[in-house]
Amino acid sequence: MAYKKRILITGGAGFIGSHLVRHFVNTYSDYLIVNLDALTYAGNLENLRDIEDKPNYRFVKGDITDLIFIRQLFRDHDFDGVLHCAAESHVDRSIEDPLIFIQTNVMGTAALLQACREQWGEDMGDKRFHHISTDEVFGSLGSEGFFVETTPYDPRSPYSASKAGSDHLVRAFWHTYGLPMVISNCSNNYGPYQFPEKLIPLFIRNITLGKPLPVYGQGVNVRDWLYVEDHVRALDLIFHKGQPGETYNIGGHNEWKNIDLIRLLCDIVDNKTGKPAGTSQQLITFVKDRAGHDMRYAIDAGKIKADLGWVPSLTFEEGLSKTVDWYLSSHEWLESVTSGDYLKYYEQQYSNR
Ligand code: NAD
Ligand code: DAU
Repeated sequence: MAYKKRILITGGAGFIGSHLVRHFVNTYSDYLIVNLDALTYAGNLENLRDIEDKPNYRFVKGDITDLIFIRQLFRDHDFDGVLHCAAESHVDRSIEDPLIFIQTNVMGTAALLQACREQWGEDMGDKRFHHISTDEVFGSLGSEGFFVETTPYDPRSPYSASKAGSDHLVRAFWHTYGLPMVISNCSNNYGPYQFPEKLIPLFIRNITLGKPLPVYGQGVNVRDWLYVEDHVRALDLIFHKGQPGETYNIGGHNEWKNIDLIRLLCDIVDNKTGKPAGTSQQLITFVKDRAGHDMRYAIDAGKIKADLGWVPSLTFEEGLSKTVDWYLSSHEWLESVTSGDYLKYYEQQYSNR
């Protein structure tokens, strides 16, 4: 079949990437969607079982840092566009082992940009490189203010510094070579298929197992939460309608202090599992703070609303309820992703706190 567009999505077996792949495969039957993923601990093809047999979908196992392999993939498929999601994504892991973050997030992004440039040559007008980034590049807010697209970069963890480095490279390829790119910087996502090292799925799993809920510091840090499918709708709009060279912030206008969110989550799980109110809150355990823990993230999503008409569709109550339902009914998925190396990680991360 002659496809209208041939699209590469990197990191499509991970949390956001799998929702993005599913959305593109189901929405654009006239696009070929190639999902490139190295299947690290965070990548899981179980996340895509429902679409794996669709005719417009292909999976390729490979590493974005391997330029020779990436070049060949571009020659084989002659992509019209790239949505670049692949990354090392967990802040705590970046504190333990920063170099893999620099390798994957900086060198991997550089290899993709170079392959696009080589394949697309001088005629890049209708091509598109969409770099999927994070609000953490802007650093840490106090109690006032919001991140806007022009907020100066001030990353403070190895993860956010590596993402900032990749953002800079993407802009450099736009300014220097005219590579048509867009960047989106999003706040904290939640929803099904998120690896249970991140706060919401980790805590739902620990509640169901009766394990302690390790709250870093006093639990006063603030995050701005967005349901993953709302993020994916924003990515679709930016990829198709965003202006080349532009950046778009994406956020939920949904700030929660960690401890308040955790208490709410405990109450929702108790309610859904028929436990007396207050049962799961007894598992809350304050532990040593994360090193360099950013205090507050909050996005001003005014530009994407004004330019592309995007606003979140779900309230937090709706999104959290759907999310808890999914994890409570996905025992097998949770157990399969938390076997093996995850057990060693969990032991190391939380044993001496
Ligand atoms: P994730 O950790 O769930 O998934 C990352 C995926 O990338 C995995 O499938 C993994 O196998 C793959 N990958 C890792 N290294 C690779 C390599 N060298 N080559 C090919 N594939 C590789 O991450 P996520 O939470 O879905 O985040 C996806 C992207 O969105 C990241 O770039 C992240 O920085 C960004 N982001 C995440 C959030 C969030 O709240 N999760 C918010 C804003 C932005
Ligand atoms: O803001 C976007 C970022 O959100 C993404 O770029 C990252 O990829 C994603 O992991 C996320 O980063 P955070 O560090 O904010 O997410 P995490 O789920 O790790 O932690 C959320 C908050 O909860 C944070 O303040 C730390 C705290 N926390 C986390 C864990 C895992 C705890 O108190 N205890 C925990 O065990």
